[in-house]
Amino acid sequence: MTVCEFRAGLEGVPATQSSISFVDGQKGILEYRGIPIQELAAKSTFLETAYLLIWNELPTRDVLADFEHEIQYHRRLKYRIRDMMKCFPESGHPMDALQASAAALGLFYSKRALDDPAYIRAAVVRILAKVPTMVAAFQLIRKGNDPVQPRDDLSYAANFLYMLSEQEPDPFAARIFDVSLMLHAEHTINASTFSAMVTASTLTDPYAVIASAVGTLAGPLHGGASEEVVEMLEEIGSVENVRPFLEDRLERKQRIMGFGHRVYKVKDPRAIILQQLAEQLFEKFGQDKFYDIAVELEQVVEEKLGHRGIFPNVDFYSGLVYRKLGIPTDLFTPVFAISRAAGWLAHWKEQLGENRIFRPTQIYTGLHSAPYVPIDERQ
Ligand code: CMC
Repeated sequence: MTVCEFRAGLEGVPATQSSISFVDGQKGILEYRGIPIQELAAKSTFLETAYLLIWNELPTRDVLADFEHEIQYHRRLKYRIRDMMKCFPESGHPMDALQASAAALGLFYSKRALDDPAYIRAAVVRILAKVPTMVAAFQLIRKGNDPVQPRDDLSYAANFLYMLSEQEPDPFAARIFDVSLMLHAEHTINASTFSAMVTASTLTDPYAVIASAVGTLAGPLHGGASEEVVEMLEEIGSVENVRPFLEDRLERKQRIMGFGHRVYKVKDPRAIILQQLAEQLFEKFGQDKFYDIAVELEQVVEEKLGHRGIFPNVDFYSGLVYRKLGIPTDLFTPVFAISRAAGWLAHWKEQLGENRIFRPTQIYTGLHSAPYVPIDERQ
């Protein structure tokens, strides 16, 4: 076995072989199963894309219709899961609520048959169907309301927006949301996907896999960045304040949220599409001053940090899109999880195909044969 040097954050270290997605960080290319993200954003839907990611083929019309129908059928939550969620503190973060609820699914669907394709499909359907319902349910519960039941006549994206606001969304807004779900669905071996794969490699149940990935996505260096972007734009407050804000932040060696990426050294292709979506939304539903602040911030960051390959990442414009769609700021990361569940499930399935438990090594930096000092002699 070759002994490798230690790389912090496993930078550049291949953790698996995968055919699910491809990123070229220098050219700004992202492909799902070989199909460029721009092509999918223009022509596909989130559920079709999820199917592609998980089963490695574009579904025929009938196969897609069956898949959509199954997901529709499984959207509801058992009343005991809803009751459990009612006991969560309303001050808790919705990502924690989602992680706990996703893990709880394992209690209700405890049969495990990882070598049975029917079981895999049922788990995929259940998770894709129920995660949006759980996110929306917690939102209503924490406001003191009963969760609304999903509506079978609405698409995946439209139904989620409906469950959040109890109002049927504009079809254009629902389409924009669907595209945004597609854009966030998969992104090679990022932290949460790696987490999902490590958990999957122990052959535990898929709900534990999703719960561990949700916990990882929650951090501000990963999915949590989009919330912080919007908070930062609010703090900046005006276009004139962009430059002094940025200079002050850089002087204090603080990071600018929504910028920089381990892989992309150019503007993230998803950020380019999300910016276009934001513009379309503002055109149809009214301007937002935070968009002007964001555009100015992008320019000044490019001027100051562009030479180091620091450009907008996926989280920079996604918050502006979600905000315009009426999604509360602390639901941005749970919405990311709704979408990324497709990628996690694709990696779960791929991991099961040729599984070997993850068990890396370490470079020990501690003592050897250290004395045990009796408690009375310790200082
Ligand atoms: N603002 C200012 N400086 C930055 C930024 C930033 N956003 N990102 C990287 N840098 C600097 C960093 O300070 C470091 O400088 P130095 O070499 O002088 O210490 C250098 O660039 C390399 O940074 P790094 O942390 O080693 O890079 P990384 O590849 O480990 O980190 C990152 C990638 C995404 C964690 C980082 O760019 C970051 O913290 N960005 C802000 C948070 C963010 O937007 N996260 C969302 C990531 S994309 C979606 C997702 O994964 O969920």
